[in-house]
Amino acid sequence: MSPDSPPRSVLDLTAMKAAGRKIVMLTCYDATFARLIAPLVDVLLVGDSVNQVVAGHETTLSATLDQLIYHARAVRRGAPDALLLVDLPFLSYQVSVEEAIRNAGRVLQETGAQGVKLEGGRPMLDTVRALVERGIPVMAHIGLTPQSVHALGGYRVQGRERGAPERMREDARELEDAGAFGLLLELVPAPLAASISQTLRIPTVGFGAGPGCDGQVLVLYDMLGLNETFSPKFLKRFAVLTGAVREAARAYAEEVRAGKYPGVEHSFD
Ligand code: KIV
Repeated sequence: MSPDSPPRSVLDLTAMKAAGRKIVMLTCYDATFARLIAPLVDVLLVGDSVNQVVAGHETTLSATLDQLIYHARAVRRGAPDALLLVDLPFLSYQVSVEEAIRNAGRVLQETGAQGVKLEGGRPMLDTVRALVERGIPVMAHIGLTPQSVHALGGYRVQGRERGAPERMREDARELEDAGAFGLLLELVPAPLAASISQTLRIPTVGFGAGPGCDGQVLVLYDMLGLNETFSPKFLKRFAVLTGAVREAARAYAEEVRAGKYPGVEHSFD
């Protein structure tokens, strides 16, 4: 990998960490946005957040493997060369290692993604090992794990209770040893995320985990300001598109009602 070239495989992400290059990751769920953003970022993630931001559900728990595969295929069509990761949804990898292999294998086979992401620390070590040994690259995800939102009592910062920082450090080390190529840290205090990042060889990607991570990820619709009701402290809106969308819909409605659109220039002889 040359110093400025975009990453093409998950191993390039480790090289980026070693070279001190920050990893830029965004979620993506369709071909149109994939075409627009793939040239500008390092990694596209088809997150199970698709179940919330696109499908309108409260949580990620009802996301299905077929749903993730459907969206990942669309993203791949829009961005044939992108480094693409896909979330394994709830219950697609927790029941048994065999099911995890079959389902993660389907994701790679049917979408052209280069890796999968799954949630959990120590209980997932055997699964991570088994997937990696079968050639399926895995990004692990610890801290706030949204598929466990009910057990965690809500979407809140993790790692603050007594003993929790040590457990999280241990999870991170063991996931690296099990073969994970990267680690997503969600809602983790910045100093803890920074110190975990420093001790690992593999890169960390932060989502509400401060500037000390090796990379950052945001949910595309959130950073574009398309979601007015979601305003956690860590979210920066790099655009606020709600106004533009509403204004376009309003102008269109007005012109149709007034008989102004379509005009002759939009009509066929
Ligand atoms: O599903 C998702 O969007 C995620 C976020 C942490 C980026 O996993």
